[in-house]
Amino acid sequence: MGSRPSQEPSPPTSRPPRDSSPLPRSPGSLEPSQYTAGARLGTGALGEVFEATDAQGTRVVLKRLHRHCAADPDLVDMFRHEARVLAALDHPGVPRLLELCPDRGTWMQVLERVEGLDLTQLARRAPELPLALGVEIVRQLLGALGHVHTRAYANGPPLQIVHRDLAPGNVMASRDGVVKLLDFGIATSLWRPDPDRGRMKGTRGYLSPEAITGEHEVDARSDLFGVGVLLYELTTRRRLFEGPPVVVMAAIAEGPTPSPARDVPGYPPALDLVVRRALARVPSLRFESAAAMGHSLEDAAAVLGLPAARAELGVFVARILDGAGGARSSSPPG
Ligand SMILES: Nc1ncnc2c1ncn2[C@@H]1O[C@H](COP(=O)(O)OP(=O)(O)O)[C@@H](O)[C@H]1O
Ligand SMILES: [Mg+2]
Repeated sequence: MGSRPSQEPSPPTSRPPRDSSPLPRSPGSLEPSQYTAGARLGTGALGEVFEATDAQGTRVVLKRLHRHCAADPDLVDMFRHEARVLAALDHPGVPRLLELCPDRGTWMQVLERVEGLDLTQLARRAPELPLALGVEIVRQLLGALGHVHTRAYANGPPLQIVHRDLAPGNVMASRDGVVKLLDFGIATSLWRPDPDRGRMKGTRGYLSPEAITGEHEVDARSDLFGVGVLLYELTTRRRLFEGPPVVVMAAIAEGPTPSPARDVPGYPPALDLVVRRALARVPSLRFESAAAMGHSLEDAAAVLGLPAARAELGVFVARILDGAGGARSSSPPG
């Protein structure tokens, strides 16, 4: 793991709940008026995500725990843990948490709004992603993930953050060409270690073998497996693990290590090596860190003559956003 950040992470929230009870006492009594909600961006099992503006007109995103989930102390704890993790991170590749506040009987995170597309939207709207941009997305994603995995308090222990849900709906590319890792909803950390060793939490098709079998602990290398799936899909423009749940689970847990070069004629061997190592079934055979995978990806990109392409990625995303049809996805987020 890399060096520790020199600064103490900022405190968990700008407005921390004062007590440990999960809910405001009287739902309806705390109505934050400073945000004007707009379109819904997604609905998940635990909450909803909306576009919004604050009183100054700044564009933000509101992520609100479903009210029925707010009755479950464990789900409230997870939601607040997500906010705590976000507040401890400080990287351009992770949206900033602006506030965690009670909202009409439940809890709401206020987040920096990413003006861009998540990778599910990108796949739908740009089936022909240039190879250089697929590589650029993963290059930046690994930078963010390296920060997440190595984050530590100054002179303190590493926070041991594992994202556990690397999936297309949880990665965005902005119109500035910046890649952002979202949705730390099921992340684990020093503050909330995983009680069931990560089993089967995450997005099907992007789960690591150990998340399915429980044979090994779910750790940072499990996230790198998810990045491997994303790298495969971004550079081949095909889904890797598809089909009925049992088929997908068996392919991940028991199938041969995927090889894009085997599946796609002409696929660059240098990239194939990176994908295969990330997708090794046994964690100890994968890259040992996000930084190590990043270096290998850089080397492969150099061999292929693919320079960093942040500006090009921004132009590509902006062109889609500004094109006909609007950017919004109507499908549930991953
Ligand atoms: N900060 C943000 N800026 C812009 N869009 C966002 C932001 N956070 C989430 N979204 C959008 O909302 C979707 C759902 O958000 P996410 O945090 O992944 O929640 P869920 O738990 O519902 O998957 C994402 O796939 C993305 O399209
Ligand atoms: Mg998500």
